[in-house]
Amino acid sequence: MSANPLQIALDLACEAGALLLERLEHPREIAEKGRRADIVTDADRASEALIVARLRSEYPNASILGEEGGAYRGTSGDRWIVDPLDGTTNFAHGYPAFSVSIAYERDGELVAGVVFAPVYRECFAAERGAGARLGERRIAVSTIDRAADALLCTGFKPSDYERNAAQFRAASGRAQGVRRDGSAALDLAYVACGRFDGFWEFDLAPWDVAAGTLLVREAGGRVSQVDGSPARLDSPSILATNARIHEEVSAVLVEG
Ligand code: 2AM
Ligand code: CA
Repeated sequence: MSANPLQIALDLACEAGALLLERLEHPREIAEKGRRADIVTDADRASEALIVARLRSEYPNASILGEEGGAYRGTSGDRWIVDPLDGTTNFAHGYPAFSVSIAYERDGELVAGVVFAPVYRECFAAERGAGARLGERRIAVSTIDRAADALLCTGFKPSDYERNAAQFRAASGRAQGVRRDGSAALDLAYVACGRFDGFWEFDLAPWDVAAGTLLVREAGGRVSQVDGSPARLDSPSILATNARIHEEVSAVLVEG
């Protein structure tokens, strides 16, 4: 009998977070992965190795999808989706907005998700049907109901700026503020706990959004593509909000 997936995700996020904190104190080896500014450090790889080794031993039949190549095709319907360091650019510069993101999916449905931000010592966790928490505390999305009152967040790769420029401009003209913080998993966790009222981004990967999507939904928010169509983990875009402003923000972004 394997241990409870949420508990494993919590343990591993905590261990990986400690590893990242320890590495933050030392000079980092930074390599580009192909696309300009798409970087990986020794810490991304060490964090993923730690997480994948434990998942392989606890869940030998499960599939694993990890950003740094830790991919296994299992025989069961379970899948772990892991970003061992979300916000690598921030990490590489010592900027504290980075996180570990671990999600667990059963038969294609997200059932557990953890996002841990080690510098802030904040651990966000959600289990399908059981709500979302920050540490021990239950969290919920914000209750504002107009984009004019909203603090929104977005993200984009430096090379993708033009693609998001119209949306950034439109949202800035409408919201109280727009942030670009650099860790999509953490941005989604912040929507779940009401710090941000909405977040959108184009061209993310499943490991950036899996745990955060469950957090937002379990906290009472809504997740879709930017145009409002149903989200998938491999969607070309994501829009996550407190639900109340979802349609308004979607329209602002679509109109650009
Ligand atoms: P990462 O740090 O795990 O790569 C911010 O826009 C989001 O996009 C982050 O979740 C970040 O995840 C990812 N990201 C940032 N720069 C990127 C790049 N140049 N190529 C691919 N993904 C990037
Ligand atoms: Ca990463």
